Amino acid sequence: MADFSSDRAGLAGLRRLREHLQDTILGQEEAVAGLSDALLAGEMGHTPHGRPRSMLLVLGPTGTGKTRAVTEASRHLYGTEAIARINAAEFSSEERVPLLLGTAAGARGLLGAQVERLRAAGGRILLLDEIEKANPRVSDYLLGIEEAAITLASGETLDLSDLHVIATSNVGSAGIVEMEGVARSSVRRYVEQEAAAHFRPEVLARFTSILVFGHLTREIQLRICGRMVDHEVSFQSGVLSRKFGHPHRVLAGPDVCRRLVGEGWHRSLGARPMRNVVERRIRGALVDSQLRGALGPGVRESVLLADRPEGIRAAVARAPITL
Ligand SMILES: Nc1ncnc2c1ncn2[C@@H]1O[C@H](COP(=O)(O)OP(=O)(O)O)[C@@H](O)[C@H]1O
Ligand SMILES: [Mg+2]
Repeated sequence: MADFSSDRAGLAGLRRLREHLQDTILGQEEAVAGLSDALLAGEMGHTPHGRPRSMLLVLGPTGTGKTRAVTEASRHLYGTEAIARINAAEFSSEERVPLLLGTAAGARGLLGAQVERLRAAGGRILLLDEIEKANPRVSDYLLGIEEAAITLASGETLDLSDLHVIATSNVGSAGIVEMEGVARSSVRRYVEQEAAAHFRPEVLARFTSILVFGHLTREIQLRICGRMVDHEVSFQSGVLSRKFGHPHRVLAGPDVCRRLVGEGWHRSLGARPMRNVVERRIRGALVDSQLRGALGPGVRESVLLADRPEGIRAAVARAPITL
């Protein structure tokens, strides 16, 4: 397995991790810096031998960038978004535990299969998502990792010493949603208390870092939306250019995001619904404009506007459409 810390190009990549994460994950400076530091310490071999490279607990409300931060880090470090992701909520009932950990009769569990697939793809992150929802047998087992080599029920041993084990949990997330405007340090203290009430002390002590993602301000929500709109607008510019047989550029006015954040940001789901809303509304406006005959071959530019109560519409630059 490649050691990124022993050559110049590898070092340059490691140095850029923090910056890259800060550029992609908005409004989570402290958590993202902590994630980057912990991953780098593990990558560069500064963690105990024979243990996972790092064991991280990532806390905070839904839809605030936790999973995205992990997949971005993986892509930056290993050139693959492939992570072994265990959705703990699927293993909350006792009967489902063998599907994850295997059986004495020799059935292979999902965990072994996922880790093997991860290695084949060149990734190093095992993500235990929403770990608080797992059956205690699963969480005790996975978070009880003392030695990196664990033996599954099937007898298969799994060596996790070259992996980062990252658990996410929503404990305290309902409370954080209520804490808008409260200082980050108080939010952090609150979440750590909630985690302490949920996880046993010896389990918490095993984590090399505990990272707390916070609630996102309106300004950050608008910036996240702005990125998604930029992405979709550039995608649709390509689609229409090919369709019309000449360059066409779709532009978004500044009011578009104010409208889309209202619809796409959800109090308890965070930014999760946003991409879907952005895509749906922009595609809808472009389709509508074409159906009305305003947008078609010959038109080189269209502008998305959100100045009407009905929603987003696409106006063509040469002959603005009025509804
Ligand atoms: N802080 C953020 N910065 C940039 N994008 C974000 C942020 N939070 C959420 N998003 C967007 O919302 C999507 C869902 O976020 P995700 O990381 O899956 O949330 P969770 O915290 O529940 O794991 C991401 O793919 C990303 O596009
Ligand atoms: Mg997630």
